[in-house]
Formats: sequence, C-alpha cells, structure tokens
Amino acid sequence: MINSDTKIFGLIGNPVTGSKSPWIHNSVFELLSMPAAYLAFNVHAEDVKKAYDGLKVLGAGGFNITIPYKSEIMTYLDEIDPIAQKLGAVNTVHFKKGRSIGYNTDGLGLISVLKRHDAQIKTRRVLVIGAGGAARGICGMLLEAGIPALGIWNRTPSKAENLLNSLNAFGTAVQQRRICQPKDFKQYDMVINTTSVGTVPNINETPLDIQLLKPGATVCDIVYKPHYTKLLQDACQFGHPIIYGLEMLIEQALLAEQIWFGLDNVTLDDLRKKLLSST
Ligand code: ATR
Repeated sequence: MINSDTKIFGLIGNPVTGSKSPWIHNSVFELLSMPAAYLAFNVHAEDVKKAYDGLKVLGAGGFNITIPYKSEIMTYLDEIDPIAQKLGAVNTVHFKKGRSIGYNTDGLGLISVLKRHDAQIKTRRVLVIGAGGAARGICGMLLEAGIPALGIWNRTPSKAENLLNSLNAFGTAVQQRRICQPKDFKQYDMVINTTSVGTVPNINETPLDIQLLKPGATVCDIVYKPHYTKLLQDACQFGHPIIYGLEMLIEQALLAEQIWFGLDNVTLDDLRKKLLSST
C-alpha cells in the first residue's frame, strides 16, 4: 500500500508507453512487501536534467533510464560505475547518501541470462545483428566476457564499422572481431538480434533468414513485444534453442533491484522464477 513512507522509483525515457518496467519492478515490490512504487515518466528532450533534479529532491531511491537518454544522464551524475563509463551508457541510477551513482545493467543482464542458458558461453562464437546503442552494450559485455569470436551484421554497413571501431577497448584478448555478411552467419554458435525488427506493430518481420544460420545455433531476440517474435518462431521451427527478450529485460531489472536494495542471490532466484512464470 502507498503511504507517507513509500519510496519512488521510476523510468525516464521517450517513449515509455508500453514499457514493461513498471510491471516488473512493482511486482518485485509487492512480492517482497517493500514500501516502494515505480512509475514510467515520458520526458521531453529539453527536460532530462529537470526530471533528474526532480527525482533527487523528491527523495527517489533510484531510477532507470531508457532510449534516448542513456548517455545524456551521465553528465548529471556524481559517480559512474567503470563498466557503465566504458559503455558510455547508464540505465540505472541509485541515490545513495545524497549522491547519485550510475550503472549499466543491460549488458550484465544479458550475460547472466546467456550464462544460465549455456554454461559454455565463454567458448561460443557470437553474431550480433544491429549496430545501435543496444548492440554496443551487448558487444562490449560479450567481449569483456571473453568469447572467442564476435561478428556484427547491420543493414547499414558503415554503422557496423563505427561500432566495431568503438569496441577496441573491450575484451582486448578477443582477436576475432569482424563485420559479417550473411554468407558468414554459419560460423557462429549464437545470434543475438539487437534491432527493433519484429516488434509491434510489425510482428511479421524478422531481421534474418534463419536458414542462413548454423544448425543448432542459439537464437536470442532482445525484442519482447511480442514475446514470441517471428525470429524466435522461425528459430523454433528449425530446431534452434531460443532465448526470449523478456528474460533479458527481467534480468536487467533484477540487477537494478540488487543495486537499490542489496538483494541476495537467493531472493533474486526466487523473484526471477516468479516473474518468468507470470508472463
Ligand atoms: P538502439 O539504441 O535501441 O539500439 P538505434 O541506435 O536506433 O536503437 O539502432 C537501431 C538498430 O536497428 C540499427 O542497427 C538499425 O540499423 P541501421 O543502422 O541500418 O539503421 C537497426 N534497424 C532498425 N530498423 C531496421 C530494419 N527495418 N531492418 C534492419 N535493421 C533495422
């Protein structure tokens, strides 16, 4: 129940309509009987600093940031976690003892989901589709995790080149990193779609022809609306293991909860099970 002790948490971005974050975080608060509430705030580009200041003076416990403010928010924070600094993007802020600290739980969330699905992730060659902000975080964390090879394919090749060049500081032990063509897709054990292709309303679109992939390669989609995207449907039809976008979304949210409330791993495991079973 909301009362005078309730702490505010929230999401700022544009657009935030349809975001599942309020559902995930408020479910956590309810499951753990926490005096907290999470709201989504649609913030105009010129108001990001005002929104940050507002949350701070209202005594918010923390907040998440989504597209397109993950870089801008960094300029207002007191401290930034080294991984977020390296990625150049913050998706989680914690107000702690009057200071604001920025983190990036997107990439870490993805890596922990991949590890849960595949204990051998460190030996897998990974193909990333797309070259935007989401791809950057994912590629950076995959390289830091020490995968043997990273391939990037993007509709606009120059953007893939730019992304690859911007990753030089990540996982320097990983020598095999390159721009791919569809003919190269069969070299990879796992593919991750980081584009918005297939999301509502264009649910019949897919970013790639599944038959170009190596048989048995794992297919992950960061798109979570719809839950079972065309890409994942095609993958299932051809017998590929799949990983749903919602799983990665839940994981980054749980990592944010861990930052805000110091939750232990047993609690996180229990929350993950309950959230996944209620989707
Ligand atoms: P985000 O920060 O969420 O990653 P973004 O920076 O706009 O968003 O990146 C979107 C990515 O999806 C890009 O790689 C984009 O490809 P382009 O660089 O060619 O624009 C990709 N993308 C978006 N719509 C696409 C489509 N219809 N087909 C193929 N790729 C698409």
